[in-house]
Amino acid sequence: MTDKVVLAYSGGLDTSVAIPWLKERGLDVVAVTVDVGQPGDLQAHRQKALRIGASDAVVVDARAEYAEGYIARALRANAMYEGIYPLSTALARPLIGKTLVDVARKVGARKIAHGCTGKGNDQVRFDLCTTSLAPELEVLAPARVWKMTREEEIAYAEARGVPVPVGRRSPYSTDENLWGRSVECGILEDPAVEPPEEAYGWTRAPERAPDTPVYVTLGFDRGLPISIDGQATELPALVPMLNRLAGDHGVGRIDHIESRVVGIKSREVYECPAALTLIQAHQALEALVLPRDLLDFKRSVEQRYAQLIYDGLWFTPLREALDAFVASTQSRVTGEVVLKLYKGSSRVVGRRSAYALYQHELATYAEGDRFRNEMAEGFIYVWGLPARTWASLEERTPPAPVPGGPLASPPANVRTAVD
Ligand code: ARG
Repeated sequence: MTDKVVLAYSGGLDTSVAIPWLKERGLDVVAVTVDVGQPGDLQAHRQKALRIGASDAVVVDARAEYAEGYIARALRANAMYEGIYPLSTALARPLIGKTLVDVARKVGARKIAHGCTGKGNDQVRFDLCTTSLAPELEVLAPARVWKMTREEEIAYAEARGVPVPVGRRSPYSTDENLWGRSVECGILEDPAVEPPEEAYGWTRAPERAPDTPVYVTLGFDRGLPISIDGQATELPALVPMLNRLAGDHGVGRIDHIESRVVGIKSREVYECPAALTLIQAHQALEALVLPRDLLDFKRSVEQRYAQLIYDGLWFTPLREALDAFVASTQSRVTGEVVLKLYKGSSRVVGRRSAYALYQHELATYAEGDRFRNEMAEGFIYVWGLPARTWASLEERTPPAPVPGGPLASPPANVRTAVD
């Protein structure tokens, strides 16, 4: 019996070329296309895989699982890598990896393959996710080892009847799912150049967005969006609606120099209208219902959470432990937030919750003030005591010098530049 390999199949050139490449190495290829909300005719991808030589090909609809098991968690954690990128590509990888493992077990394959190169984060994510879920499976990454240039790859494809996109190929490499669209390559590799309009696919240029603002009301229940403008809507449907609405108003563009896991800095352009607006609204609701110390502590957890998603560590005990913490903070994150979308900007302009810690009679400067102003003086006396004590003592001795004197410059034979 021939050995089987389960290949993550996107329908693009790299994963298409991987099919004959793996076959020529004596493997039966089962192509798996995971639907995480990317556009395109995925059944057509399946047919293409079979035509190119896959022994079997399947499309797995993972949209609901993606929304409920991945997006929901990332949103409750306000997960933004480097404070900027809502992890749209990174978040789908563990789910795609898990789906490959499920299929491999079902068809009795001992190998998994993906189309990632050796420069990106996605290889790390696929490989680590398989290590965690199914250490017995071997991971193959043809594009990491085949050492073909783009031209050689096209010649290889043509010689084997793999369709190569004709005409003006897009200079960009893109990745899309419910949580956002990533764009790389082409002119974007010059970080000094503004991304040209053609690089964008989900968002209108802010200057060409409608001249009248739109208000959108998002309803949350325990940290998860449940309605849009009063209409109860499930997350898998709500996210694409908001991608369209906010994207039409020019909201969701990100231009970032990103620190990759493999040490490279790269210029990344993203379009994440729903992710950005949902996180913004969620944060606004948390600010209304959570106390200061909890908000502050949660921020450090959020940062760690975002980083572990980026680093491919989804299937780890740390992620589960942080999830438990985040979940425990969400029991009162219920209410509504109003956003105003206008020519590329999204602003929170209203919020309400039955759990609001905001109390008008405490906050008001008008009639009905219940705050006991006279208590403030005593509070400040006690709160300021350490500072006052410190200030009352005179500096008698100057700070001691650092032992050893100023730092010596390195001897001439020590190399300081990168080798
Ligand atoms: N740098 C991003 C990440 O690691 C996205 C990479 C997306 N890939 C692409 N072909 N545009 O999450």
